[in-house]
Order: sequence, then C-alpha cells, then structure tokens
Amino acid sequence: MTTTGAQFDVVVIGGGPGGYATALYAAAAGLSVAIVERDKVGGTCLHRGCVPAKEFLETASVYRSVRGSAEFGITVGEPTLEFSVSQSRKNAVVDRLFRGLAGLLKGRKVTVLAGNGTLLPGRRVRVTEGVDAGTEIVGRAVVLAAGSVPRTLPGLPVDGRSVVTSDEFLDLDRLPESVAVIGAGAIGCEFASLLSDLGARVTLVEALDAILTGCDADVAAVVHRSFRKRGIEFRLGAQVKGFVPRPTGPGGVLHLAEGPEIETDMVVVSVGRRPRTEGLVAEGTAVVIDERGFVVADRYQRTHEPSVWAVGDVVGGTPQLAHVGFAEAIVAVKCMLGEPVVPVDYDRVPWAIYCHPEVAFAGLTEDQAKARGLEVVVKKDPFGGNSRAQILGDTEGLVKVVAEKAPDGGAGRIVGVHMVGPWVTEQLGAGYLAVNWEATPAEVAQFIQPHPSLSETFGETVLALTGRGLHLG
Ligand code: NAI
Repeated sequence: MTTTGAQFDVVVIGGGPGGYATALYAAAAGLSVAIVERDKVGGTCLHRGCVPAKEFLETASVYRSVRGSAEFGITVGEPTLEFSVSQSRKNAVVDRLFRGLAGLLKGRKVTVLAGNGTLLPGRRVRVTEGVDAGTEIVGRAVVLAAGSVPRTLPGLPVDGRSVVTSDEFLDLDRLPESVAVIGAGAIGCEFASLLSDLGARVTLVEALDAILTGCDADVAAVVHRSFRKRGIEFRLGAQVKGFVPRPTGPGGVLHLAEGPEIETDMVVVSVGRRPRTEGLVAEGTAVVIDERGFVVADRYQRTHEPSVWAVGDVVGGTPQLAHVGFAEAIVAVKCMLGEPVVPVDYDRVPWAIYCHPEVAFAGLTEDQAKARGLEVVVKKDPFGGNSRAQILGDTEGLVKVVAEKAPDGGAGRIVGVHMVGPWVTEQLGAGYLAVNWEATPAEVAQFIQPHPSLSETFGETVLALTGRGLHLG
C-alpha cells in the first residue's frame, strides 16, 4: 500500500509502451519509480492494438498457407475457421506477455498504482477512480504517457456490434460476413487484409484518393493491387455521411456522399487515434496541451513544466508507434539523469505494417525526398526473381531504395528504404541501419546477404545502385 505523500524519483502516468519503458529504463538506472495505470500495464499495444492485431493476422496467414498447401503436395480438406479459438489464443498470448511485463516491473521494484493519474502543481500526482483512488504521490520527475484512443466519426456511434473501432474489433468472438472498413491507414489495411483472408467481404472506404498515403507510392500500389486481386472493394475519395442500422440484428447501411450505399454487417472505424488527455493535467502547471488535445513536448520530451516529460502517443506530431514510445522513454530518462542524449529522428524511425503483403520502411519516400528539394537516384527490385520468395510461393512485392544523387550523378547517401512483400517487417534492419548511418549504396553493397534468402533483394537493390548489379540492371 502506497501512502499519500510518498516520494519517487520518477512518477509515470500511463503504463503502455511509453510508460512502462520509462519505468523499466529508469529503474535499471537505479531510480525509484511509480506507475499510475487505469487498466493493465501493457496499454493499447499489448491489450487493444499491435499484439492482438498481429495474432489475428497470423491466423489469416496460417489459413492462407493451409488453403494453398496443395501446391506443395499436401492435401487437406477445405479449411474452416473457428475464430473463437484464435480469440482465445490471442488472449493467452496477451496474458503471457502481460504477466511477463508485470513480473519485470515487480523485479525492478516499480510500484504500480491502479487508477487515473492527474498531474497537479509541484509534480504531485493524484490517483482517482481505481483501487488506489485518493492516493497522492510526488515525483522528482513526472512522465506523462497516457496514450491515445481511437477517433470516431460523427453520425457513426460506436455500439460494439454494428459499428466498432479497433478496441471492440479485437475482442470479437466471430467474424461478420461483410465489413466496411473506414480509413485505409495502417489499422484499416491490417484489418481489411485479415478480414478478407478469413473470408469476409470487405469494402475499404478512404477519404483520400489512395490507400496508405504515408507510404511510398510504389509500395502502396503493390498493396492496392494485391487487395484488389483478393476481392477487396475500394471506395476512395469517399465522404462518409452516416449509418442506418438494420431494425433487427447487427449491420446496416453505410451512406457515402457519392455513389451507392454499402450494405454491411459491420463497420470498422479506423480513422486515426486521438490523445487521452482529459483530466491528465490539473490547473496550475505550465504543461501545454494543444488545440487537438496533444501534450506539447520538445525533442528531449520536455513539457513546458520543469521536470515533467511526455512520451508516446500523448505527444502530438510524432508517429504513434510503440517502438517510438520506447525510444522517447529512453530519451526522457537519459535527459532527467543529465546524460548525453540523441533525440529521436522521426524522419528515420522504422515502420512496419503487417497486412498481406507486409510493408516496412525507414526514411523518406521518393516523393518526400523530391518535395524537400533533393535530387534522387532510385532502384526497385521485385521479389519475383528472389529464389527464397519462389520457394515460399510468395513473390508479390518489391524493395525500393532512394538515394541522394552524388555530384558524379551516381547514388550517394541512402535516404529511404521501402519494402513490401514476404516477411519484410523482419527484413528492414539492414535498410534501417543504412538510412540512419547515412550510408551510400557502395558501402552497404560490400556486405554479403545469405543465399537463398529474402534479404538478397535488398542486397541486389543497393548493388544495382552502385551502377552494376548481378541480376538487376
Ligand atoms: P492513420 O492516420 O494511419 O490512417 C487513417 C486513415 O483514415 C487515413 O488514410 C485518413 O485519410 C483516413 N480517414 C480519416 N478520416 C476519414 C473519414 N472521415 N472517412 C474516410 N477515411 C478517413 O490511422 P490508423 O490507421 O487509424 O492508425 C492510428 C495510428 O496507429 C497511426 O499513427 C498508425 O501509424 C498507428 N498504427 C501503426 C501500425 C503499424 O505500424 N503496424 C498498426 C496500427 C496502427
């Protein structure tokens, strides 16, 4: 039992990736730490985001493999899907990881308080609404890591049955037969991909004229083509007007400003996430919350209030990714310890989207590089010629490397590596290092890739950028 007035070196509000990484890293440095968490440590990523979504995507992948097994001479009957089993498996995976994390925090003597944390003046943190409600503790430093929640749309009230966000979707026990997914960003594309692979009829509704607009256009085009081939329908440049539920049973009709309405069993809203800052900061501190509700922090994660930091999705203008939260946590802790620290370079963080085909990238897209006035040299190598991809029977995709043009007209510093295809989320490492080390193709091409491996396609792309490739012209 933590008593009111207890003092800690660091008090963290929020136990998601940003918050628990802060706690673990600070505790590893010998600091005393408390986390205030309203629900379960692990946050959105572990309980309602990355981990559960990837578990379902793995179910989709196994289903695809079983359906395609005849090509390998393995005959099975038509597979059937028991989604509730996948749901239970997901819960077991999440639970194991949750217990592991709770054990880690305990092992490092991190105090976890249950409830909502509010920052008060003087780096005091008050706990409300949980088992520890009423407790007030003080930190020499406080870190705001309250995370984000799904954005919703006016005219589409979330009821958990006919209209859901990722929060509800990831708890479903059975899949609907037809789904309209609104928003073709990372979440929308992952959901559309797994739903369609598992047999649902999917319509992807997107306000902009393209899907995955944060990705390189060549990469997004591969995903678009693949989705279309698998029967996913697209309504791009679409404006959602509203949803009329069926009088009985789940589902209803989704109305768009133009074109035919969409009759569907479920609408999944994946139009971005908003920060969870309601009640996070009381009057009387200098912390600034912007007009969209995000906490304002500088490159060292410092807010406007001395000794108060902010990390993760609650901070505006930075990628909402768990691993970015981890990196920001390390920056904040080093900064409070007065150690030398390199802030996160948001232009060069790794991105991984686990739809089929997978997407992974780091650095600038070709269009972004050009928009910044860089002259670029670009090479693309499709996975079609890669022997491992042929062995796997999964050849859709490509690797694209964007390099700055050198004074001699050849390829200089690599500014972006973009991948789409088999297991690229596990292959980005070399490209990520190349971008962040500001290496040139000639430097990277020295390194050998094992044969046969998917990573040879990256090796071949950089080799070709030196002016002479083995397979690629
Ligand atoms: P997002 O911002 O990536 O994409 C939202 C999409 O919805 C955009 O394409 C936007 O144009 C569209 N949109 C917005 N309002 C709309 C409307 N009224 N009608 C139709 N379309 C509309 O957000 P998303 O996919 O919800 O993901 C949230 C955050 O989580 C993002 O920052 C994302 O990067 C991150 N995330 C990353 C993952 C990964 O890297 N594997 C997986 C899941 C989430």
